[in-house]
Amino acid sequence: MEGQSSVNGVSELKSWRQPPSAEITIYELLKTDHQEILDFCEKIRDHDDPRSAEVADLFSDLKKLLTAHTKAEEMVFYNALHDLSIEFQDDDLRFDVVESFEEHHLMEQLLRELSFLDSGSLPWMGKVKVLHETLERHITREEQDLFHEAQQGAESLGGRSLAEEFLEEKEAWMADWH
Ligand SMILES: [Fe+2]
Ligand SMILES: [Fe+2]
Repeated sequence: MEGQSSVNGVSELKSWRQPPSAEITIYELLKTDHQEILDFCEKIRDHDDPRSAEVADLFSDLKKLLTAHTKAEEMVFYNALHDLSIEFQDDDLRFDVVESFEEHHLMEQLLRELSFLDSGSLPWMGKVKVLHETLERHITREEQDLFHEAQQGAESLGGRSLAEEFLEEKEAWMADWH
């Protein structure tokens, strides 16, 4: 069921349990989430019983983490990059940000459609595969292009504690999840 944690009520969302550290950067936080999101997709793909309750729980955890991650990422990271693109009149960066928002929108749509299908059914597995592939492409682009753009404009972003803002925003989404 949506919002419930995994088997025995113990959440598998490792990154959420990590205490914020003073030195941790926004890039490390985003990368940790990305890895965890892809791990969920792989566990679902490789499970030997797609119709099991365990797979349904894995999807529930994936949906929760992916939603909290993308919302916090938009609020904090994408908006900071958008500000940078305006400051430097960088239309390529602005386009990259718009494209990233669109990819999030697509993932959100896939998650919603998945919720209406029988977990583990063939149509459900097909849609999970498309979500997984979309995520792989999106994450690669984010870590290669967007991280690079943000690091180049680091001086302009310097006054903002993006890591802290991201964690706060993400935790608020996780806490409100039901
Ligand atoms: Fe991301
Ligand atoms: Fe993203």
